[in-house]
Amino acid sequence: MRPVETISWDEADQVVQLIDQTRLPGAYRNVRCASVDRLVRAIQRLEVRGAPALGVAGALGVALAARKIRDKDFHKFSEKLAIEAERLRSARPTAVNLSWGVDRVMARAAKGLSVKEVRELTLSEALSVAEEDARTCHALGAVGAAILPGKCTILTHCNAGALACKEWGTALGVVRSAVESGKEVRVIACETRPLLQGARLTAWELQRDGIDVTVIPDSSAAYLMRQGMVDLVLVGADRVTTDVVFNKIGTYMHAICARHHKVPFYVAAPLSTFDPVRTEDDVEVEQRGREEVAFCGGAETIPTGVPVINYGFDATPLSMIEGIITEKGVLKAPLDWDFISREQNKYSP
Ligand code: MRU
Repeated sequence: MRPVETISWDEADQVVQLIDQTRLPGAYRNVRCASVDRLVRAIQRLEVRGAPALGVAGALGVALAARKIRDKDFHKFSEKLAIEAERLRSARPTAVNLSWGVDRVMARAAKGLSVKEVRELTLSEALSVAEEDARTCHALGAVGAAILPGKCTILTHCNAGALACKEWGTALGVVRSAVESGKEVRVIACETRPLLQGARLTAWELQRDGIDVTVIPDSSAAYLMRQGMVDLVLVGADRVTTDVVFNKIGTYMHAICARHHKVPFYVAAPLSTFDPVRTEDDVEVEQRGREEVAFCGGAETIPTGVPVINYGFDATPLSMIEGIITEKGVLKAPLDWDFISREQNKYSP
């Protein structure tokens, strides 16, 4: 496997560096964010995206803010840091990891008694968030690989891979771990309209690692299942609430098709994606711009003036999910929220 550095901290230049995912697969370019403004823009433009990678972006964003705020007065510095943290937290609303990453580093910052100390604490906590994400993905991958048959075809949606995390991936981490352990895994990547994270990103990173991948239009998933061409559906998650899993728009449609065709439907997500205090109704589902749907290759595909509805995510009831593959095992509904909260608290600074 050839690791990618989706997001990292450059200590020499004091910048957050990330792969510009809007340009893949055509060009592999890094973006270097020297300000919170630039990082917020990168998050909103989906230069960096995917729930765990957003957690790392939020965490590193707080460390970056602490470096860039010039006030020497501790009170003023702390006030400004809180404002920057809020800007990062609200850059995208649906994936819980973004606010989780910001809050975790802010909790650590609260222990600092000087500007210098807060700068050190925020960076060390943000780097721990990044390292833990990599470790978690490998652990989750091993858990998932163990339950896959020796030979199978997996349908996935969007990109829950190395590009959505620090490295390795969640759903694609399971695929990588299975391939590494000698299993014969073939991936069907749904292209994932409108921004094509499946076609552009999942296909790019799997091909790069020599893993068998084929892209299909989203609308053909049901027919492939009807033809018996899919053994398992495996997707990532942006937030697991007490009743549903939020993931990229289109996921719910695959869950319905999978249920109809008796294809097992699995989710892969680290415990940092679980939200024990919210239900579906409490979560804001991001609505994105008309231009994402109305243009294709620069050409307008919808008559000017016709509106679009462009939800970024949908919700799949937990009852439709065979299991959620986590770093602590495969969890099944009804979820044991006491266990989940206990495990989450082990990471609290
Ligand atoms: O809008 P995006 O590209 O950030 O959406 C990402 C997804 O929905 C992924 O499936 C999800 O974050 C999985 S996390 C590995």
